Amino acid sequence: MTKILIGSDHGGYKLKNEIIKHLKSMNIEVEDFGCYSEESCDYPEIAKSVAEAVLKTNDKGILVCGTGIGMSLVANRYRGIRASHCTDTFTARMTRMHNDSNILCLGERITGVGLALDIVDIWLKTDFEGGRHLRRINMY
Ligand code: RB5
Repeated sequence: MTKILIGSDHGGYKLKNEIIKHLKSMNIEVEDFGCYSEESCDYPEIAKSVAEAVLKTNDKGILVCGTGIGMSLVANRYRGIRASHCTDTFTARMTRMHNDSNILCLGERITGVGLALDIVDIWLKTDFEGGRHLRRINMY
């Protein structure tokens, strides 16, 4: 299992900590790129750090903000990043199978902890199908 590079702004801080606890309980290595308190901060800075680290290491990333949208907008500016904003488990599964998603984005103000952890589990355990989907992701 790869290491997970994780980050949040203040709007996603609590959910990020729940995810870190959950991943560690499964012996998954986690690197936290901040933020480190609920004090207001700028989500683009965190999204940039995680996106750049994912490109460098090929590990998977998880980004959490209030909605998950700001994080996904910033991360997807990077070529090679396929950041998927998920609010349900079907999308989490499909975005791994068809898009080879390498960053999962979640919204603390949208998705409750129980569902968010299920989304994380499914996103982590689902493999990319390759084939025609590889051709398609190579088009952008
Ligand atoms: C912070 O208030 C909020 O704007 C941020 O967490 C995120 O939802 C942005 O997309």
